[in-house]
Amino acid sequence: MLDVGELLREIQEMREGGYLSDAILRESVKTISKADDKYDWVGIYLLNPEENMLWLHNYIGEPTEHAQIAVGEGVCGTAVAEGKNQNVPDVTAIDNYLSCSPKTKSELVVLIRAGDEILGQIDIDSHTEAAFTEEDEEVIGMIADKLAEVLMAERE
Ligand code: SME
Repeated sequence: MLDVGELLREIQEMREGGYLSDAILRESVKTISKADDKYDWVGIYLLNPEENMLWLHNYIGEPTEHAQIAVGEGVCGTAVAEGKNQNVPDVTAIDNYLSCSPKTKSELVVLIRAGDEILGQIDIDSHTEAAFTEEDEEVIGMIADKLAEVLMAERE
């Protein structure tokens, strides 16, 4: 299980040490990916609001063809279109699913948002069916909120 307190502290220390969001987003993906065997692919997409596209910022796992995803497409694009996290226990049940790997059985997408504005998302795929619990969503959500803070601070 992910030690969320530890990662939040690490992010805060990186901020205070002058690291930019780029490094913090990469470190977060690395730490999440190492935390649990069921997290087989972990990535962060950032929303490009001009093009209404999600752009893959960084990931750990098998290479994916989906480096850019239009809002409304797949599980990732649906999360943005509906403004809601997606916890999909069985990806074969999703009509417009964008497959990264035939091994993926379930997927969790947690939005990175600042108030009403969606900045991006943390996307996790698992080779295990129904891998993600409410606790996973909650813990990943705490990291997403921290990353939103980091991204917004760079706008000031
Ligand atoms: N499965 C996602 C696409 C991203 S990959 O999982 C890396 C989707 O349906 O949007």
